Amino acid sequence: MLHALCGGEEDFMEGEKKERQDLVPIFIMGKRYEVPSSLTIQKAMEYAGYQLIRGCGCRGGICGACGTVYRFPGSYKIEVGLACQTIVQPNMYLTQLPFFPATKSVYDIEKAKPTIDTLVRAYPELLRCLQCNTCTKSCPMDIQVMDYIAAGMRGDIARLAELSFDCVMCGLCASRCPAELCQYNIAILGRRLYGKYIAPRAEHMASMVKRIEEGQYEKMLKELMSTDEETLKKLYTGREIEPEQAGEDWTPQDKTYL
Ligand code: SF4
Ligand code: SF4
Ligand code: FES
Repeated sequence: MLHALCGGEEDFMEGEKKERQDLVPIFIMGKRYEVPSSLTIQKAMEYAGYQLIRGCGCRGGICGACGTVYRFPGSYKIEVGLACQTIVQPNMYLTQLPFFPATKSVYDIEKAKPTIDTLVRAYPELLRCLQCNTCTKSCPMDIQVMDYIAAGMRGDIARLAELSFDCVMCGLCASRCPAELCQYNIAILGRRLYGKYIAPRAEHMASMVKRIEEGQYEKMLKELMSTDEETLKKLYTGREIEPEQAGEDWTPQDKTYL
């Protein structure tokens, strides 16, 4: 028996139809699933029924835990991306690298010098780089990985630190390096050396630390610690928030807690 659809049913059917049209096939570790085309890989995996207990951290493109490798049928190219940032595409064959083993040297940054010797002593394989650029092509953050490695080989710590600044340590570069470098751990040593020995001192930070050490905030902290929860909530929600477009020299009008 036929019956006319009422408005609500029509909307529902339209919604269902649209959702069906928006589904795309993807392959997770070899198994086919249909998932909404607007989802990130990470959300698509959850939609498909996976519970992410590894290879998933910040979900915001910061922690590097979700390095993912994928390929399309008939394509020679290995593609890479962060699962929390990359939107699914039809017929992606994908797999995640929840962890990639890496060499990690132990060093005492207080005794290290910002020189090529320090880098090479900690990571002798640095000098094996073949300049093949595979690492740069593997980086989901579009970092010039080969160039920062080249800077390290020249002992240019400042350039190494600058070029590697956005690294999220996902490990994808190291997973494909034919010379078996662990680029991101070399880079983090470079940034530590830069921060400790080369970057100009932050005077405002030194003066703030001094004020803390002198106990300027002790009284205020004790008061806050003895304040009831409701008052704390009010203080928190009522606080003056830095505007998004604020200039470098912005400070709140209320200086009680400064
Ligand atoms: S993948 Fe390895 S060998 Fe190739 S450029 Fe990068 S660090 Fe060098
Ligand atoms: S440099 Fe390597 S570890 Fe860092 S984000 Fe790029 S691929 Fe990941
Ligand atoms: S979950 Fe942190 S970068 Fe993707």
